[in-house]
Amino acid sequence: MSGALDRELAYHEKLYSGFAQQHFARPAVRALRAHMVQRILALTGADKRSRVLSLGCGIGDTELLLAPHVGEVVGIDLSPAAIRQARSDAGRLGIANARFEQGTSAAGQFDAAIAIFFLHHLPDEELAAFPERLRELLPAGGVFYSLDPSRLRLSGAVGRLLIPALMKRYQTEDERELDGNSTAEFFRRAGFAAKVSIYDFGSSPLAGLLPGWAAGYRMARRMDDSLLRVGALAKRGSNFEIVAKKDS
Ligand SMILES: C[S@@+](CC[C@H](N)C(=O)[O-])C[C@H]1O[C@@H](n2cnc3c(N)ncnc32)[C@H](O)[C@@H]1O
Repeated sequence: MSGALDRELAYHEKLYSGFAQQHFARPAVRALRAHMVQRILALTGADKRSRVLSLGCGIGDTELLLAPHVGEVVGIDLSPAAIRQARSDAGRLGIANARFEQGTSAAGQFDAAIAIFFLHHLPDEELAAFPERLRELLPAGGVFYSLDPSRLRLSGAVGRLLIPALMKRYQTEDERELDGNSTAEFFRRAGFAAKVSIYDFGSSPLAGLLPGWAAGYRMARRMDDSLLRVGALAKRGSNFEIVAKKDS
């Protein structure tokens, strides 16, 4: 295992030993996850017939909200603790069309693939090689959706200034914010038609900071929807999405 993978594993085993479960169950985080699911469905076109792969699925909270809308979800994650939690939650909720596997690679054919806050954890060479690996998992016309922190985000600059210790606590040693356009370029080179858009401004950071305040999250989300229409502001948004469609 590479050094970066070892460090990722150690960090996430600790994160998923209690804190993440409690944090992700809070109302504002649940509201954020529900919003993400609607976005994933709208942008990938996944429906009740679709097999969806999720890479770096963590404890599967997004995937378990997605499952009722699609045919099947398969989640893959490096962390055994995450996979144990995801399987246990699927069982508790009686969700039979979600499967979770520990590992760093997937096999099989899927109609769509997602990677939520995952790409920015991959070392540079792995990130560059990722779209080629993804090609094998999708048919022509298959769609990939990702969400990652943007290097230009205003919230990152403000966070580093005002709450540097908290920012550090919630980040692994190897993760970094990414540039949306150069990340999308890796997908284009591998034969995907890739588009970049900004997902949010203050709403997701607010859900992380004040996880108990779902009404605040919803208000911030409505503000984001307005703010993101202003092009100059959108560039400084928090997280960018890539929607990449495999060429026919
Ligand atoms: C920031 S977390 C995101 C988890 C989840 N998608 C979410 O939205 O909460 C990144 C996840 O990627 C996993 N991970 C990191 N490197 C990985 C790799 N090379 N292969 C598979 N999973 C990996 C970590 O264990 C962690 O669960």
